[in-house]
Amino acid sequence: MPRHVAIIMDGNGRWAKKRFLPRIAGHRRGVSNVRSTVSACIEKGIEHLTLFAFSSENWRRPADEVSLLMQLFSLALENEINKLHEAGIRFRAIGDLERFDPRLRHLIANAETLTAGNRALTLTVAANYGGRWDIMQAVNSMTAAQPGKVYAESDLLQYLSMAYAPEPDLFIRTGGEQRVSNFLLWQLAYTEMYFTDTLWPDFDAAAFDLALASFKNRERRFGRTSEQVKLADAEVPEPVAVKR
Ligand code: IPE
Ligand code: IPE
Ligand code: MG
Repeated sequence: MPRHVAIIMDGNGRWAKKRFLPRIAGHRRGVSNVRSTVSACIEKGIEHLTLFAFSSENWRRPADEVSLLMQLFSLALENEINKLHEAGIRFRAIGDLERFDPRLRHLIANAETLTAGNRALTLTVAANYGGRWDIMQAVNSMTAAQPGKVYAESDLLQYLSMAYAPEPDLFIRTGGEQRVSNFLLWQLAYTEMYFTDTLWPDFDAAAFDLALASFKNRERRFGRTSEQVKLADAEVPEPVAVKR
């Protein structure tokens, strides 16, 4: 079982279009599918679920879709946060949250504080997130203290917005597109990638099981040969130490 699953939840708009519904209807269905995915992760003992909800490029969408998405995000937080807390879920948001309105930022901050001690599952929502933004904010924070210093890759880890989690083991993108769309660029270096045509609102427990079955059949070599991996068996170290 992967410890950390990261998902690009794509295809809400096409799901709605197929049914002659407005795009926002697809986003609503997408939110309810988040609920079932979270439950599935808890059942399976997955420690981290990271969901791409809104990219730094999604501001380019029509203003009415952006504003409905923001409303949906606020509503989902208001309605779900107590249930998440009762289920022992720690909620985290990553991304440049400054751009959101104060009410939404407040909801996010409260949700993070309320659930900070929970450990059944860490649910991270990436909102106004971009992988390049993440790397740049980390580099800027890291170099601010000692300008001119030469740094190692491992020095950067504590400044990345997901410093609290191991790197994703499994990346899933629904909706048929086979691209990373500026999601966790740094952290995906050795992640197993899984792409499916299934649209996000249709990505149910059976579809999730298919992704997990595919993951099970992968041999993670981290640069070594297959023979080395078989010898070391379960003791394959990850290429970099991750701060938890
Ligand atoms: C993903 O679904 C959700 C967000 C980006 C917010 P899309 O809205 O991208 O759905 P498609 O790709 O248009 O079908
Ligand atoms: C990626 O989906 C971002 C989210 C799912 C939040 P997009 O639908 O925005 O990606 P592109 O534009 O097709 O690459
Ligand atoms: Mg899309």
